[in-house]
Amino acid sequence: MMCIKFTTTALATAALAIAITGCGKGAAGDGSSTVKITAADRTAAHEIFTQRCAVCHGQFGRGDGTGAAALAVKPRNYSDAAWQKSVTDADVERTIVLGGAGVGKSALMAPNPDLADKPGVVAALREKVRSFVE
Ligand code: HEC
Repeated sequence: MMCIKFTTTALATAALAIAITGCGKGAAGDGSSTVKITAADRTAAHEIFTQRCAVCHGQFGRGDGTGAAALAVKPRNYSDAAWQKSVTDADVERTIVLGGAGVGKSALMAPNPDLADKPGVVAALREKVRSFVE
Protein backbone atom coordinates (compact mmCIF):
# COMPACT_ATOMS: atom_id res chain seq x y z
CA MET A 1 0.00 0.00 0.00
CA MET A 2 2.82 2.35 0.94
CA CYS A 3 4.50 1.56 -2.32
CA ILE A 4 1.42 2.37 -4.38
CA LYS A 5 0.90 5.60 -2.46
CA PHE A 6 4.51 6.63 -3.10
CA THR A 7 4.16 5.86 -6.80
CA THR A 8 0.99 7.90 -7.05
CA THR A 9 2.66 10.85 -5.35
CA ALA A 10 5.69 10.54 -7.58
CA LEU A 11 3.47 10.47 -10.64
CA ALA A 12 1.51 13.46 -9.43
CA THR A 13 4.75 15.35 -8.82
CA ALA A 14 6.01 14.45 -12.28
CA ALA A 15 2.70 15.52 -13.84
CA LEU A 16 2.85 18.81 -11.97
CA ALA A 17 6.41 19.37 -13.13
CA ILE A 18 5.35 18.70 -16.71
CA ALA A 19 2.35 21.02 -16.30
CA ILE A 20 4.55 23.81 -14.94
CA THR A 21 7.11 23.37 -17.73
CA GLY A 22 4.35 23.12 -20.31
CA CYS A 23 2.85 26.34 -19.01
CA GLY A 24 5.85 28.34 -20.09
CA LYS A 25 5.83 26.86 -23.57
CA GLY A 26 4.11 28.67 -26.39
CA ALA A 27 3.37 31.74 -24.31
CA ALA A 28 6.96 32.89 -24.05
CA GLY A 29 8.83 30.34 -21.93
CA ASP A 30 10.51 28.44 -24.74
CA GLY A 31 10.26 31.40 -27.08
CA SER A 32 8.05 29.68 -29.62
CA SER A 33 5.85 32.24 -31.31
CA THR A 34 2.06 32.15 -31.09
CA VAL A 35 1.52 35.06 -33.49
CA LYS A 36 -0.93 34.34 -36.31
CA ILE A 37 0.61 34.90 -39.75
CA THR A 38 -1.74 35.97 -42.56
CA ALA A 39 -1.16 35.64 -46.31
CA ALA A 40 -0.68 39.43 -46.44
CA ASP A 41 2.00 39.17 -43.72
CA ARG A 42 3.85 36.57 -45.82
CA THR A 43 3.67 38.74 -48.93
CA ALA A 44 4.99 41.75 -46.98
CA ALA A 45 7.74 39.64 -45.42
CA HIS A 46 8.83 38.36 -48.82
CA GLU A 47 9.09 41.92 -50.16
CA ILE A 48 10.94 43.14 -47.07
CA PHE A 49 13.35 40.22 -47.18
CA THR A 50 14.14 40.88 -50.83
CA GLN A 51 14.49 44.64 -50.34
CA ARG A 52 16.24 44.84 -46.97
CA CYS A 53 17.72 41.54 -45.85
CA ALA A 54 19.00 39.82 -48.99
CA VAL A 55 21.73 42.42 -49.58
CA CYS A 56 23.50 41.05 -46.48
CA HIS A 57 21.97 37.62 -45.81
CA GLY A 58 21.69 36.60 -49.48
CA GLN A 59 18.64 35.67 -51.50
CA PHE A 60 18.79 32.12 -50.10
CA GLY A 61 19.78 33.19 -46.58
CA ARG A 62 23.33 31.83 -46.71
CA GLY A 63 24.89 35.03 -45.41
CA ASP A 64 26.40 35.73 -48.82
CA GLY A 65 24.55 38.83 -50.04
CA THR A 66 26.42 41.34 -52.19
CA GLY A 67 27.01 43.58 -49.16
CA ALA A 68 28.31 40.77 -46.93
CA ALA A 69 31.94 40.81 -48.11
CA ALA A 70 32.41 44.37 -46.85
CA LEU A 71 31.13 43.59 -43.34
CA ALA A 72 33.56 42.94 -40.49
CA VAL A 73 31.02 40.63 -38.82
CA LYS A 74 29.47 38.23 -41.31
CA PRO A 75 25.68 38.06 -41.62
CA ARG A 76 24.13 34.92 -40.17
CA ASN A 77 23.91 31.96 -42.56
CA TYR A 78 20.32 30.77 -41.98
CA SER A 79 21.02 27.35 -43.52
CA ASP A 80 23.13 26.50 -40.43
CA ALA A 81 20.97 23.95 -38.59
CA ALA A 82 23.01 24.24 -35.38
CA TRP A 83 22.37 27.99 -35.25
CA GLN A 84 18.67 27.49 -36.02
CA LYS A 85 18.41 25.15 -33.02
CA SER A 86 20.30 27.57 -30.78
CA VAL A 87 17.78 30.41 -31.09
CA THR A 88 14.10 30.61 -30.22
CA ASP A 89 11.46 32.17 -32.44
CA ALA A 90 11.28 35.04 -29.96
CA ASP A 91 15.07 35.56 -30.25
CA VAL A 92 14.85 35.79 -34.03
CA GLU A 93 11.88 38.15 -33.92
CA ARG A 94 13.58 40.41 -31.35
CA THR A 95 16.72 40.56 -33.48
CA ILE A 96 14.70 41.56 -36.53
CA VAL A 97 12.97 44.47 -34.77
CA LEU A 98 15.76 45.66 -32.46
CA GLY A 99 18.74 44.86 -34.68
CA GLY A 100 22.03 43.44 -33.46
CA ALA A 101 22.72 46.37 -31.14
CA GLY A 102 19.44 45.76 -29.34
CA VAL A 103 20.19 42.11 -28.52
CA GLY A 104 23.92 42.16 -27.77
CA LYS A 105 25.02 41.24 -31.28
CA SER A 106 26.80 43.17 -33.99
CA ALA A 107 25.27 46.57 -34.79
CA LEU A 108 25.86 45.67 -38.45
CA MET A 109 22.63 43.69 -38.15
CA ALA A 110 20.23 46.52 -38.94
CA PRO A 111 17.16 47.23 -36.75
CA ASN A 112 13.67 47.46 -38.28
CA PRO A 113 11.77 49.76 -35.89
CA ASP A 114 8.95 50.24 -38.40
CA LEU A 115 8.02 46.57 -37.87
CA ALA A 116 7.62 46.90 -34.08
CA ASP A 117 3.85 47.28 -34.42
CA LYS A 118 3.56 44.58 -37.11
CA PRO A 119 4.02 41.29 -35.21
CA GLY A 120 2.49 39.26 -38.06
CA VAL A 121 5.05 40.55 -40.55
CA VAL A 122 7.89 40.00 -38.06
CA ALA A 123 6.66 36.43 -37.45
CA ALA A 124 6.47 35.86 -41.22
CA LEU A 125 10.06 37.10 -41.56
CA ARG A 126 11.09 34.71 -38.77
CA GLU A 127 9.27 31.92 -40.63
CA LYS A 128 11.23 32.84 -43.76
CA VAL A 129 14.53 32.84 -41.85
CA ARG A 130 13.60 29.38 -40.49
CA SER A 131 12.71 28.11 -43.98
CA PHE A 132 16.32 28.35 -45.19
CA VAL A 133 17.59 25.65 -42.78
CA GLU A 134 19.31 22.69 -44.43
C1 HEC B 1 23.66 45.58 -43.29
C2 HEC B 1 23.64 44.12 -43.31
C3 HEC B 1 22.41 43.43 -42.75
C4 HEC B 1 21.10 43.60 -43.09
C5 HEC B 1 20.52 44.58 -44.09
C6 HEC B 1 20.36 42.62 -42.32
N1 HEC B 1 21.18 41.89 -41.53
FE1 HEC B 1 20.65 40.39 -40.27
N2 HEC B 1 22.58 40.22 -39.66
C7 HEC B 1 23.64 40.95 -40.14
C8 HEC B 1 24.84 40.59 -39.42
C9 HEC B 1 26.22 41.17 -39.64
C10 HEC B 1 24.46 39.59 -38.49
C11 HEC B 1 25.36 38.86 -37.50
C12 HEC B 1 25.32 39.57 -36.17
C13 HEC B 1 26.21 38.89 -35.17
O1 HEC B 1 26.51 37.69 -35.32
O2 HEC B 1 26.62 39.57 -34.20
C14 HEC B 1 23.04 39.38 -38.68
C15 HEC B 1 22.29 38.49 -37.95
C16 HEC B 1 20.94 38.23 -38.15
C17 HEC B 1 20.19 37.23 -37.44
C18 HEC B 1 20.75 36.24 -36.44
C19 HEC B 1 20.90 36.80 -35.06
C20 HEC B 1 21.47 35.71 -34.17
O3 HEC B 1 20.75 35.28 -33.26
O4 HEC B 1 22.59 35.27 -34.40
C21 HEC B 1 18.91 37.28 -37.92
C22 HEC B 1 17.73 36.43 -37.50
C23 HEC B 1 18.87 38.33 -38.92
N3 HEC B 1 20.12 38.89 -39.02
C24 HEC B 1 17.75 38.67 -39.64
C25 HEC B 1 17.70 39.71 -40.56
C26 HEC B 1 16.53 40.08 -41.29
C27 HEC B 1 15.19 39.35 -41.24
C28 HEC B 1 16.86 41.17 -42.05
C29 HEC B 1 15.96 42.00 -42.92
C30 HEC B 1 14.76 42.55 -42.29
C31 HEC B 1 18.27 41.44 -41.80
N4 HEC B 1 18.74 40.54 -40.91
C32 HEC B 1 18.98 42.47 -42.41
C33 HEC B 1 23.60 41.89 -41.14
C34 HEC B 1 22.45 42.36 -41.75
